[in-house]
Amino acid sequence: MQPTPHIGVTTSEAIAKTVLLPGDPLRAKYIAERYLTGAVQFNAVRNMLGYTGTYQGKPVSVMGSGMGIPSIGIYSYELIHFYGVQRLIRVGSCGSFQADLKIRDIVIGLSASTNSNFASQYNLPGTYAPSAAWRLLKQAVEVAEKKDIDVRVGNILSSDIFYDDNKDAWKQWAKMGVLAVEMEAAALYMNAARAGVEALCILTVSDSLVTHEATTAEERQNSFNQMVEIALELA
Ligand code: HPA
Repeated sequence: MQPTPHIGVTTSEAIAKTVLLPGDPLRAKYIAERYLTGAVQFNAVRNMLGYTGTYQGKPVSVMGSGMGIPSIGIYSYELIHFYGVQRLIRVGSCGSFQADLKIRDIVIGLSASTNSNFASQYNLPGTYAPSAAWRLLKQAVEVAEKKDIDVRVGNILSSDIFYDDNKDAWKQWAKMGVLAVEMEAAALYMNAARAGVEALCILTVSDSLVTHEATTAEERQNSFNQMVEIALELA
């Protein structure tokens, strides 16, 4: 098979049916080195590192998604349509919209509201509610319970804007009970839904729009590991 424009792989077997997608490609490298057995790098196009190995005997891949809806839109589409990926699990960070959602907490995106125009391609006669795959979501919650890790499950915002001209825009989403903001889940959920495959987004809170607190790099690492350990169980 031909490589896609963004993933330089010529065989569908090089990538597992389950792929973890951190935003940062160096996080993909970290996950592969720390958690996977026999990890082999399958992609370096644009330095968007991707690896395949096994976790507890099950094949799993991990690859960077880049930041933002266009970037994860491209990579998830190619993974699904050219490489036959069936389960895509984003592992990322988010900014909290709620006073009771603290830095380092783990959030699972039940659904992803968005200010992006990504859904316009589907010509829907209304608005769409991008949603997680129920089976993956349920399994992730069960794994977290078993590991005694607290998780919050709810609506998140996938925003196209990190530096918003309107500093209070987020408060409107917060009033609707949206838990936190990130920049990718809605596109991932839509690409997966359109293709009939499963997607889930698990996040750690890296900063709070309510208190303006932010985690240190070291603190981020610990909650990042817990989130990855939940995600890897879903392979
Ligand atoms: N905004 C958007 N994405 C994010 C944030 C944020 O504050 N924090 C972590 N990812």
